[in-house]
Amino acid sequence: NTKGFIFDLDGVIVDTAKYHFLAWKKLANSIDVDFTETQNEQLKGVSRVKSLEKILSWGNKTISEDEFMALMAKKNDDYLSYIDKMGESEILPDVPKILNHLNENNQGVALGSASKNARKILQKVNLISNFQAIVDGNDVSKAKPDPEVFLIGAKALNQKPENCIVFEDSVAGVQAANNANMISIGIGDKTVLSEADYVFKDFTEISIEFIEELIKK
Ligand code: BG6
Ligand code: MG
Repeated sequence: NTKGFIFDLDGVIVDTAKYHFLAWKKLANSIDVDFTETQNEQLKGVSRVKSLEKILSWGNKTISEDEFMALMAKKNDDYLSYIDKMGESEILPDVPKILNHLNENNQGVALGSASKNARKILQKVNLISNFQAIVDGNDVSKAKPDPEVFLIGAKALNQKPENCIVFEDSVAGVQAANNANMISIGIGDKTVLSEADYVFKDFTEISIEFIEELIKK
């Protein structure tokens, strides 16, 4: 039995959500826009362009296209200054255990992320060889909750969508998995990710027996 397991990156494999937060906060404050943790929650899983659009609308700002591009570049430069210092210690607990089990049992393993920095981060934390396919922000035209990113992932793994399982920490990502007709596994808060088929606080709560059941399903 072979299934396709598709992992989101930010907030699932590595805790880069905190770096996105710091970089967006710095950028928002530099143009006199307030930025709270609650607002940050709404940016999870959302593309860079859409994130900046939201921040500008929260601050009632209108800017030129050139300024928009400059702010996006500034945010990313700042974000990359954190990424440059990343190492294996920033892999979230028990992620390698699950990835190794899937790989040892010849399951399909893919990445499905909105980030254009996904490959760089996987290289930094030394996990890139665990993925048969990588679908990221450079490959998609429609953002989560559109299912595009996961459907491309399923195709790359040669799996039907209904035989794929998605791990996601964002509401938009869980919706994207559901829209793709895949099994959605939320990683995080049960009340926030209530639309997911299953929710776990983190991978330490996911047993090998549970993974085996998903494979047999
Ligand atoms: C998602 C993150 O994975 O990628 C978002 O949850 C981020 O916070 C988005 O904005 C795009 O990432 P990047 O690295 O291309 O700016
Ligand atoms: Mg995420």
